[in-house]
Amino acid sequence: MTPVSIDLALQRCIEPDCGARFGLNEQLYVCPHCGGLLEIENETNALPDAEALRRLWQSRLASSDERDRSGVWRYRELLPFSEDAPIVSLAEGNTPLYDAPRAARYCGLNALQLKHQGCNPTGSFKDTGMTTAVTQARILGARTVVCASTGNTAASLAAYAARAGLKCAILVPRGQVSHAKLAQSLDYGGVVLEIDGNFDDAMRIIRELAEDESIYLVNSINPFRIEGQKTVAAELLQQCAWQVPDHVVVPGGNLGNSAAFGKGFKELFELGIVDRLPRLQVIQAEGAAPFAQLFARREQDSTGDSSPTLIPVKHPQTLATAIKIGAPVSWKKALRAVTQTGGRVSSVSEQEIADAKAIIGRDGIGCEPASATTVAGIKRMVNDGVIDRAEKVVAVLTGHLLKDADYIIKYHQDSLYTHDRASNRSKEERRIAGTFSNPPVRVKATRAAIPEATLPSRFPRHATPNPSSSALCIGAYWSAFEIFQVLWQGA
Ligand code: F0G
Repeated sequence: MTPVSIDLALQRCIEPDCGARFGLNEQLYVCPHCGGLLEIENETNALPDAEALRRLWQSRLASSDERDRSGVWRYRELLPFSEDAPIVSLAEGNTPLYDAPRAARYCGLNALQLKHQGCNPTGSFKDTGMTTAVTQARILGARTVVCASTGNTAASLAAYAARAGLKCAILVPRGQVSHAKLAQSLDYGGVVLEIDGNFDDAMRIIRELAEDESIYLVNSINPFRIEGQKTVAAELLQQCAWQVPDHVVVPGGNLGNSAAFGKGFKELFELGIVDRLPRLQVIQAEGAAPFAQLFARREQDSTGDSSPTLIPVKHPQTLATAIKIGAPVSWKKALRAVTQTGGRVSSVSEQEIADAKAIIGRDGIGCEPASATTVAGIKRMVNDGVIDRAEKVVAVLTGHLLKDADYIIKYHQDSLYTHDRASNRSKEERRIAGTFSNPPVRVKATRAAIPEATLPSRFPRHATPNPSSSALCIGAYWSAFEIFQVLWQGA
């Protein structure tokens, strides 16, 4: 196997009128000539053919090599690192692809699969990009790594910086990050700076800080983050036995993830690993949807203007705090990915997000609010005829259910409210209905106080109980009459 040599990859400006190229070890985040975003261009001529690569990646699933146990480094032929790169890994990736029959019915689909990126080591998809970004930080000899974050990037960076023995500083919007994410960053030893502003303010400040070369910025503007995240496309398609789904649906915030999926799918297609591209569908929350607005303007524009501009949302609002972003950095890359794959960008309401989230929970899977935009968006697209009920659809869940427990408890207790206090809506109008709520029931500590209706349903009268569990059940719920009935039937 010939690894991709570091000499054969480079950084390139994505602006068509510029396209400037830079070495991999130049510490850049945007093009110094035109300010355009940078991406990694891998030289893939030296790679084996598609069949050999598929076989190699399959064989690595049984390997105990540290790199093969990572769902990112297992696909290292796609990455711009040499064989001896000093990788920083927590065995990220390797996330399950679940069937979700209940969510499928809710959306009006025959079947739906959920790729659960919340099963990464720090509970979000960020780990798949952080392993490559922090590895690059090591290669560059950086001493401090920094990011702006709505919480998950922070938690992930703090963990990987700890593994690498690097200092880590994180800028988060004060009061807008869930406790779980904050707790992770603190425990992993990151220096957490809470700013009086939103994520976009944090992003602006961190970009200024990163002008100092000893500081390495690892937000998704960093093209090495995107390289790691793009391998999720390979893992997903491998789990589908290289049968390409019709639609892959992702939440959109800063749009690094959308950009990464687009790049991953395109590279696998160009290598002949797959024979077509899935449609990349990006879903935003209605109150933080500058990308969906841009897409709608573009569709309405009869002049066919191919160079639209994103108009930032000044005060983004959503309870899905992970994607509460008004000026997404990677929108140009994401737009290219959506366009190339024939996908769309849409937005969904807070109520739709909350209900979709509860339904994902009922499949025994669960996710954080931002991730649930996907299922809410799919339901809408099926309704609107964009997705046919028989098509193969995969939704990408980006964060773990426990990332935002407060939201969940409030939904199930009917006390979840949107934050748009500036508007003249009353508190009641801002309430998210607990459509599928499942509130806890408070009872006195006596058997008599346990209301019959709240007990789990008993065995159907004519079913034979599982002998191993019958002792437990007898003690818990059965009356003498019911025990007699079952014994009599079994005789
Ligand atoms: N889902 C979750 C759970 C996220 O944490 C994020 C982004 C997204 C979706 C959106 O992904 O930004 O690549 O479009 N969280 C970032 C953070 C901004 O700081 O943790 P994106």
